[in-house]
Amino acid sequence: MSHYHLDTAESYKKAYQESLENPEAFWAGIAKDNFLWQKPWDKTFDWDQKNTEVKWFAGGKLNITENLLDRHLVHNGDKTAIIFEPNDLDESPQKISYSDLAKSVNKMANVLKDQGVGKGDRVCIYLPMIPELAIAVLACARIGAIHSVVFAGFSSTALAARINDCDCTLVITSDGGFRGAKTIDLKNIVDQALEDCPGIQKTLVVARTNQKINMVPGRDFWLKPLFDQASDHCPPTIMDAEDPLFILYTSGSTGKPKGMVHTCGGYMVYTAYTFKNVFQYTEQDIYWCSADIGWITGHSYILYGPLANGATTVMFEGVPSYPDFGRFWAIIEKYKITQFYTAPTAIRALAKESLDFVTPYDLSSLKVLGTVGEPINEEAWQWYFNHIGQGKVPIVDTWWQTETGGVMIAPLPGITRAIPTYATLPLPGIQPVLLDEQGNEIKTPEGSGLLFIKHPWPSIARTIWGDHQRYVQTYFGAQKDKYMTGDGATRDAQGNYRITGRVDDVIIVSGHNLGTAPIEDAINEHELVAESAVIGVPHPIKGNSLFGFIILKNSFENEVSLKNQINQSIVQHIGPIAKLDEMVFTPGLPKTRSGKIMRRILRNIAQKNFDALGDTSTLLNPEIVKDLIAMMQKK
Ligand code: PRX
Repeated sequence: MSHYHLDTAESYKKAYQESLENPEAFWAGIAKDNFLWQKPWDKTFDWDQKNTEVKWFAGGKLNITENLLDRHLVHNGDKTAIIFEPNDLDESPQKISYSDLAKSVNKMANVLKDQGVGKGDRVCIYLPMIPELAIAVLACARIGAIHSVVFAGFSSTALAARINDCDCTLVITSDGGFRGAKTIDLKNIVDQALEDCPGIQKTLVVARTNQKINMVPGRDFWLKPLFDQASDHCPPTIMDAEDPLFILYTSGSTGKPKGMVHTCGGYMVYTAYTFKNVFQYTEQDIYWCSADIGWITGHSYILYGPLANGATTVMFEGVPSYPDFGRFWAIIEKYKITQFYTAPTAIRALAKESLDFVTPYDLSSLKVLGTVGEPINEEAWQWYFNHIGQGKVPIVDTWWQTETGGVMIAPLPGITRAIPTYATLPLPGIQPVLLDEQGNEIKTPEGSGLLFIKHPWPSIARTIWGDHQRYVQTYFGAQKDKYMTGDGATRDAQGNYRITGRVDDVIIVSGHNLGTAPIEDAINEHELVAESAVIGVPHPIKGNSLFGFIILKNSFENEVSLKNQINQSIVQHIGPIAKLDEMVFTPGLPKTRSGKIMRRILRNIAQKNFDALGDTSTLLNPEIVKDLIAMMQKK
């Protein structure tokens, strides 16, 4: 018997124990009983530690869209799969049934095929949060093409880098997108990106804003006429469980983004299983995750996990502040949302506003509240619990990563104990360990250290596209047999984990993972900049804000204008999410004798924690510390 649904503390404990004792039997049971396989797998689990190659269900044949769509059509074809809530209140929402979604996915799959896309080809999707985004993702999966969704807030340079890194041949985009009061010129951004993307042969363009755009003959095609003509029957391409399903880029501590590769079988099993349990999903529920499908949260918990369970999932095009700060709560009332999943940054931003934006709405449908992407502070947790959960709805603080594919550590709502600021207990199949700085496992129940995961789970990313060596180095370089998360954590006597934050040069800003290196590269592109260092400083809403220490080559006239230009360079190379909140111009940066920037010192200086600087006399240039302190004191 598999433990697909964990509905009591006892069933959780039992499942966890079994998953520890025999991970293979545990996952084989879950995978076999709850999904549609065209052929059973040959080997449940294979881990070649020498080459750092992990396989789950290898030899098993399936198409994930049969599990997400076709199998629900028998009894639930009329059930709503996706509720689309547009940005603007005067546009009607859409309820897309499973059978309509299946038809659209089949049509889109045929359009892609007609454009020459086949199994294993990479398709870049650069779209706003509109139904076509979901349809495009699933259409790729239908024909075995590998989707690479790029968040539509990334700049043309960032988009081009992602398109080229995995040699995409086709881009799916739209004329523009609506976000709050703004319109984003997506096609223009794509046009700029494609100047540097010789491998792109075609673009398919969704008409969303109907703004005037440039269409390149022979390259750019409006989607609608092709879609309308396409057949709504497209046989699923049968895939091996270990064939890639998608690539999703995440920041690394060095310059180039990492194209994390997820595969069909393990990802399906793990996202479906965790969706069911972390949200205690039942058939009548209306589930809403407010993330964007451009991030892993949207992949796993707007699309794949919910649809694998036959759930109704909401896609929201807009932002929490438009037309006012009550939008989230209005949506919860409107659709009688039962599970709501969002980021601590959004909670903090909304908690800052008047409760008059919350109290008019009936939030009594809620059964589970979730958070993801960054640590949630106690105050925000309490506000969420008291004002949105009305003091009775359990909160699940879910810790996971792009690389992990699905939630790793989280309470089960109403089943295991939630503790504010703690992600609490690992899900079945997940074996977290804490290591000290020397790499030794902390065996005492209580402790603080670096968070590693011992045994690979089904949805661990298998590689970095085109650079397996970087994958090995980044995640298994420290410990050959343990996955390094890059996060620090503490553990209490009962085994509950509290994530304390990144231990590398990745900064989480408003729940977005940003590497310092690409931001510094963008700053250094400015002709006046010689060198720079970016650090994160705690911020009451965004979690962290970005602070830049910048060395200039020459003197400058207008500080405000220079700062704007530097931020413009960041917007151009990455996107608005990576803009600096503060910057100072400095004659130097504190460095070790081997030339490494001492970011710890910069972090303390930026926060004016001058007493916490410690011994700076061993620096290559100790005198710079005094200069920086003097500068900050004047600020
Ligand atoms: O530092 C952790 C933080 O977000 C990082 C992963 O970011 P990303 O790959 O973009 O995926 C975000 C969505 C899954 C982690 O290394 N993080 C994520 N969830 C939490 C968290 N930090 C604390 N508590 C969480 N619940």
